[in-house]
Amino acid sequence: MGTRLKDKVAVVVGAGSSGPGWGNGKATAVTFAREGARVFCVDRNLAAAEETVGIIKGEGGEAVAFAADASSSADVKGMVQACLGTWGRIDVLDNNVGISRDGGPVELEEKDWDLVFDVNVKSFFLTCKHVLPVMEAQRKGAIINVSSIASLRAPRGIRYIAYNASKGAVNSFTQAVALMYAEKGIRCNAILPGLMHTPMIDILKNQYAAGDYDKMIAIRDRASPTGKMGTAWDTANAALFLASDEAAYVNGHLLIVDGGITIRA
Ligand SMILES: NC(=O)c1ccc[n+]([C@@H]2O[C@H](COP(=O)([O-])OP(=O)(O)OC[C@H]3O[C@@H](n4cnc5c(N)ncnc54)[C@H](O)[C@@H]3O)[C@@H](O)[C@H]2O)c1
Repeated sequence: MGTRLKDKVAVVVGAGSSGPGWGNGKATAVTFAREGARVFCVDRNLAAAEETVGIIKGEGGEAVAFAADASSSADVKGMVQACLGTWGRIDVLDNNVGISRDGGPVELEEKDWDLVFDVNVKSFFLTCKHVLPVMEAQRKGAIINVSSIASLRAPRGIRYIAYNASKGAVNSFTQAVALMYAEKGIRCNAILPGLMHTPMIDILKNQYAAGDYDKMIAIRDRASPTGKMGTAWDTANAALFLASDEAAYVNGHLLIVDGGITIRA
């Protein structure tokens, strides 16, 4: 067991994964626990959060599962109260939830635009709304928002306009919070993962390869300058750095974790 997050309480929102394997939040929760954090694992799918907690406890770590829809104000308030009731503080908030819906501005249904913004943006606002006062009272805290390189670039042929726009909103939200709370000892940074091999990408197979999952994997691997997609552990290790005191002077940063895709001409 490492000590980079020793004595810290971390809330990971979206700590499960949407299918078998390692999602970004699941790997982040486990990575935080391996470095000594007590991890409050939140997911709207309780079974997914419990699976993550089972892994952490199996390795000798400390974790609690909690069911909440991060886009619901009442659920988020309950999440913060429950974490405080369990461990009395919140040092790290990892906002990891994110969904996408296919379509450009013409074909995307208005209800899907609203859904993506509720889950990808409003949820981050709600968690910050309820966690920031806790961190302010502690005079210390680290917030990590999981964005995407889709906030900067639209991959060729992929149409998910609400996802692009919502992740752009995450970046500006992150930097505004970073400035507003810097004097209070609270840091707020974002991670922009590139093409990662997580369970979530299953829903993209129609756009990439007419429904052929293996073909999509090959296309995404090839698109990466390294020849391979990243993994959830790459996101988790970036989150670990930003959560730790090693990043004490890193604030409002948009940390790209993409093997170099965004600098490719
Ligand atoms: N996989 C990639 O290639 C990639 C690339 C860039 C960014 N990201 C971002 O990484 C994050 C996590 O992605 P992942 O691939 O690990 O996804 P995932 O779907 O495997 O995991 C996300 C978890 O969040 C939960 N969740 C979703 N909506 C929720 C809500 N409203 N309330 C509570 N929990 C909710 C899901 O149940 C799931 O367990 C997302 O923000 C995503 O946009 C992923």
